[in-house]
Amino acid sequence: MKLKYFGHSAFAVTTDDGLRILIDPFLTGNPVSPVKGRDVEADYIILTHAHGDHVGDTVEIAKRCGSTVICNFELGNILESEGVKVHHMHIGGGFNFDFGRVKFTIAHHGSAYHDGRYGGVPAGIIISSGGVTIYHTGDTALYYDMKLIGEVNKIDYMLLPIGDNYTMGIDDAVIAVEFVNPAVAIPMHYNTFPVIENDPHEFSRKLESVHKKCRILSFGEEIEL
Ligand code: NI
Ligand code: MN
Repeated sequence: MKLKYFGHSAFAVTTDDGLRILIDPFLTGNPVSPVKGRDVEADYIILTHAHGDHVGDTVEIAKRCGSTVICNFELGNILESEGVKVHHMHIGGGFNFDFGRVKFTIAHHGSAYHDGRYGGVPAGIIISSGGVTIYHTGDTALYYDMKLIGEVNKIDYMLLPIGDNYTMGIDDAVIAVEFVNPAVAIPMHYNTFPVIENDPHEFSRKLESVHKKCRILSFGEEIEL
């Protein structure tokens, strides 16, 4: 499986079978992304919540590629009204897709659509495929139930925000990693805009001091998991 980072909370997962999954594809409006929405293709698009910096290019990509969008029920209704194919899910539920299993967890944040419509509640996403489990926390505060997520799931890669202001900052993110205990933590949702500027190397150093492993991905970098 391959994991590519576009900056902000946008990632692409490519399975060993060649299925292409985008998570929160905020590309065209994302000042740090090396690609625009029109440059990518997807079989599936998974959305953590309805904010514009996460839905991003979803409608354009999904219509062009015929992608299935996996998201919460309320956001799914909005996207269906815009002509997109949707697989609705919700917090606590899991489903086995052809590429692997997706489970929606809680996240503490907002989730209005860009025009103010109610976009359901925000989520974190656990994706298991080819023996690898990724936990993308979505936008969230630190919360104690992350401990339970770490106890119930063996997380290989935890993707979590460190940009502060709208989400966890570095110190809370370090505690979140201690709660979930992934093999590797990957920081996200930082340095996209001035208000969420933060130093991923400070996060990495603080994780090292509590014996946790960090991998900082540069914007556009792809790694083999
Ligand atoms: Ni958000
Ligand atoms: Mn966000």
